[in-house]
Amino acid sequence: MIQTQVTERKTLRVLGVETSCDETGVAVVDADRGLLAHALHSQVDLHADYGGVVPELASRDHVRRLLPLVRQVLDEAGLGLADLDAVAYTAGPGLIGALLVGAGTARALAYGLGVPAVGVHHMEGHLLAPALEAEHPDPPYVALLVSGGHTMLVEVRGLGAYRVLGETLDDAAGEAFDKTAKLLGLPYPGGPALAALAQAGRPGAFRFARPMTDRPGLDFSFSGLKTQVLLAWRRQDPDDGQARADIARGFEDAVVETLATKCVRALDATGLKDLVVAGGVGANARLRALLAAQLATRGARAWFPRPEFCTDNGAMIALAGLLRIQAGERAGLGIEVRPRWPLSELTPPCPAAGQDAAASAAG
Ligand code: KG4
Ligand code: ZN
Repeated sequence: MIQTQVTERKTLRVLGVETSCDETGVAVVDADRGLLAHALHSQVDLHADYGGVVPELASRDHVRRLLPLVRQVLDEAGLGLADLDAVAYTAGPGLIGALLVGAGTARALAYGLGVPAVGVHHMEGHLLAPALEAEHPDPPYVALLVSGGHTMLVEVRGLGAYRVLGETLDDAAGEAFDKTAKLLGLPYPGGPALAALAQAGRPGAFRFARPMTDRPGLDFSFSGLKTQVLLAWRRQDPDDGQARADIARGFEDAVVETLATKCVRALDATGLKDLVVAGGVGANARLRALLAAQLATRGARAWFPRPEFCTDNGAMIALAGLLRIQAGERAGLGIEVRPRWPLSELTPPCPAAGQDAAASAAG
């Protein structure tokens, strides 16, 4: 007698946990239905008095927020813990204490549920975030990753296949926004505050250098710009609100035009037509408008995840984890995080050595 095996088609649901810095992000993605629910708690108010992230405060707040957020997201998705098939968490790069909160919680949840866990590279999350949107480009594409800690242009050829085309030699673009905002007396985090102030600024009233655009190459340097701003601001009357807004506008234009120039170069160098913008600075409206306009004239296209998926979030970690788990990757049972983890060390997924241990734990 011929045995016919009827296998019921089962989807894959992954919980994603992001705790690498000052945002607690949680989400559930479903292989068939996409993003089911996501929630975020930002610690901005907690760190505002200190002008930057205080690592120990960040870790403690993640401890307080993470499990309530997991419950909230599961409720919104109409799921229980038992409906989860895997747990993904940010394993690095980031603040070690903050990473350990997410990794420890995620691993414990996975172990308790008997499902696999996978550690995700935070930047890979950002690089893949466009796929959270219904309309998105498939690799290969060029990604501009512009956050508080990173500024890089990356050729994305597939999951885990990334080539860094250029990166910043000093400050990240978001860091330059934050530091420049601080010296103009704006609150932390400075990027959105500076962009808002620049709205009232007159274009061209102050013109700052477009660093490293006058020579070939795809690297960036932003630390000199804040010095230019400082010198210009010192020459103004501190009560002159218009001058402050004009300087903010001059700075924003310099950063945005520099980023756009390098993006166009990266597309030329790779022959690719799709540019994905990821990371917190990707929320900048002027950067979005300029890139969209410049690329449209070249038959290329700029893709932006919606702002909540540009900044840190759990959805991008859930998605990256889902893709890696589908490809067979598992983390071992150890709670391992990598505060420093170069993107260039990532490889396409392969069933890891830890898979047997994870599978037997799941077993
Ligand atoms: O990706 P992200 O949320 O966190 C990491 O750094 O990983 O990026 C945060 C950065 C901060 O430097 C913030 O000032 C900047 O993104 N940012 C912006 C804007 N919104 C956030 N910079 C310029 N314009 C914005 N609208
Ligand atoms: Zn980030």
